[in-house]
Amino acid sequence: LNMALPEGVTPIIIGVAADSGCGKSTFMRRLTNIFGGDVVGPLGGGFGAPGGWETNTLVSDLTTVICLDDYHLNDRNGRKVTGLTALNPLENNFDLMYEQVKALKEGKTVSKPIYNHVNGTLDTPETIEPTPIIIFEGLHPMHDDRVRDLLDFTLYLDISPDVKLNWKIQRDMEERGHSLESIMASIEARKPDFDAYIDPQKKLSDMIIEVLPTNLDKEDKKTLRVRCIQKEGVPDFAPCYLFDSGSTIEWTPSPEKLSSPAPGIKLKSGPEEYFGSKCQVVEMDGNFDNLQELVYIESALSNTKTKFYGELTQAMLALADAPGSNNGTGLMQTLAAFAIRDLYEKKSAQAAKAKKESTTAAAAA
Ligand code: ADP
Ligand code: G6P
Repeated sequence: LNMALPEGVTPIIIGVAADSGCGKSTFMRRLTNIFGGDVVGPLGGGFGAPGGWETNTLVSDLTTVICLDDYHLNDRNGRKVTGLTALNPLENNFDLMYEQVKALKEGKTVSKPIYNHVNGTLDTPETIEPTPIIIFEGLHPMHDDRVRDLLDFTLYLDISPDVKLNWKIQRDMEERGHSLESIMASIEARKPDFDAYIDPQKKLSDMIIEVLPTNLDKEDKKTLRVRCIQKEGVPDFAPCYLFDSGSTIEWTPSPEKLSSPAPGIKLKSGPEEYFGSKCQVVEMDGNFDNLQELVYIESALSNTKTKFYGELTQAMLALADAPGSNNGTGLMQTLAAFAIRDLYEKKSAQAAKAKKESTTAAAAA
């Protein structure tokens, strides 16, 4: 089923943290699209699958995406008894999470629990074999120090409260028929635990994608301003920037070359501090009309980790129907996916080199 782990290769492990409904599934689609390879699973059924619920795990020949909800300590009834939310660390089994992340990183197979979102039950565990890239996505990938230390790269999707409410309304009200009151009540109920246990992880992340309301028009509640905050000094990761590294730049692209609906489009780039860490930030505020024209912005970006000019635009075009493909959310998620591919290629090249050296040394001895 999976691509066997090449000898001497240890999987790279990526942590993706976000609240639910904040675009993790969309990001996973962008990531697996870039790695290519067939998506073999959901291993069983998964969300809305015809056969009902089986698993949250997504597998391609190169990547495995593990949803951390599977490490919930209690089932839904159990949480009713404790009165705690799934966001509370006490409701998650970090000992098992650590044990299994460690085992997978060592190339070992694990038997991982399954949290069934339909029934709220903990189902029969499934066997997970390591692939070269393993993504741990969910509420708490960076919460536990032991787990965090095993992650090769960490990403936090930081959706501002206004935007989160809009997205929830779109999904839960328009698509699932919930009332506005019930959506607001559920956000309110989660907020204290979100603030206490989920949000603090952004300070610990290598990359943060911040999604905010636009700055271009105070009345506009739909247009998004998206910032990609990239930490300096992360091994094997060189931040992306506009035009010139180290400079602070504000750029309004030529409307002749990039057409955009009101309130227009504006980019920024430059060094910043984020909770005391040195960062490079790239920002896009506004939407574009024509995805093909994104190549104009691509030409101004450096360190995109693409293999050829146009690859970024091509990757966006491949998922043109996914949410955020006409604005900075899609662009920054795609940049993050290229950064992860680059990290993987660097680490596997290092592993191959180390192996060759040890073979040569052994032969010489
Ligand atoms: P998660 O996997 O974190 O629960 P999803 O990727 O399924 O989140 O996104 C949840 C919903 O939020 C989507 O159905 C969509 O309505 C909205 N959404 C997500 N990303 C975006 C985006 N970039 N732009 C607009 N809406 C979005
Ligand atoms: C939230 C969390 C999920 C969790 C779910 C459990 O949606 O984001 O990670 O699995 O709560 O909710 P439940 O209604 O089953 O207690």
